[in-house]
Amino acid sequence: MVILGIETSCDETAAALVENGTRVLANAVASSLPAHSETGGIIPETAAREQINSLVPVLKSLLGKNNNLNGIDAVSVTFGPGLTGCLYVGVEAAKTLSYSLLKPIVPVNHLIGHLYSAWLETGTPPRFPLVALIVSGGHTELLYVSGHGKYEHLGGTRDDAAGEAFDNIARLLGLGYPGGPAIENLALEGTLGKYKLPRPMKNDNSFDFSFSGLKTAAANQLAALKESGSFNDKAKSHFAAETQEAIIDVLVGKTLKAAKKYNVNTIVLGGGVAANKHLRKRMRAGFSGEVAVSSPKYAVDNGAMIASAAYFNYKPVNWMNIQADASILF
Ligand code: KG4
Ligand code: ZN
Repeated sequence: MVILGIETSCDETAAALVENGTRVLANAVASSLPAHSETGGIIPETAAREQINSLVPVLKSLLGKNNNLNGIDAVSVTFGPGLTGCLYVGVEAAKTLSYSLLKPIVPVNHLIGHLYSAWLETGTPPRFPLVALIVSGGHTELLYVSGHGKYEHLGGTRDDAAGEAFDNIARLLGLGYPGGPAIENLALEGTLGKYKLPRPMKNDNSFDFSFSGLKTAAANQLAALKESGSFNDKAKSHFAAETQEAIIDVLVGKTLKAAKKYNVNTIVLGGGVAANKHLRKRMRAGFSGEVAVSSPKYAVDNGAMIASAAYFNYKPVNWMNIQADASILF
């Protein structure tokens, strides 16, 4: 079964053709990142306009010379969560394709899409039951997953997401957007222990997260550093190393606690922050079971993970009943 996946929830305009939920036949992504690095963050109106400009060219490049979609079995699309204007672009395009091609349409939750990135092109699929950490620019969520479609939400961020903390602190360090990869690279040149940031909620009993305090602590320390005249390249790289370590300490601590409590042998990492190599390494070092992650290109937003989620949770609906829902969680 070949499913077309469309993803337009934020700053990537993406589409893919995926066979049986695992084999990526074609994958196309356009990113509006250049438009956002100027502003140091995403302005929803700008992102929505970029989605409108990019979706048809992305679909064209996906299909290449074989310029038709008659061979697909179904259309799938992210309906939420995400930015309202962005979501509408993908949802309305997918509805139009479903109607005109007479193909079934499957709405997909973006966060469940991130979970399924670990099923793409990996050879062996992750084994249930598992604990999944979905970490992106908008979300930090822990799930217990006992089978396809069987999710229990264990906890999530009470304020900022982990990716947002990376992006915010990167902006304070004078790095562009997205901040995660910039901090990861700079951290390679830094030394741990030169600065100390808090690890919020790391040792409490819940599976919730909070990163706003970490962000504030970083802002205060950086303001003091700038005032003292010692805000130089060396200081920046030490600070990047501590930022990455603090965020990852919390993510790893909570995920391992959930894996132990639910007695699972598999942890799945999904979402843009899961592209971070240090996070992958630390999680693997702390867990005796399997840590399943996608290749970095399927960790960030893409259409293939949406098509995969649609295949393994195949529930077509009437296209008239699909609506973008920016704030849906699970
Ligand atoms: O999943 P994603 O592409 O979009 C959302 O759904 O939000 O995630 C984007 C987030 C951004 O906050 C970005 O800074 C972060 O993922 N990110 C990373 C890395 N690559 C992307 N964070 C840490 N390390 C990375 N290598
Ligand atoms: Zn995402």
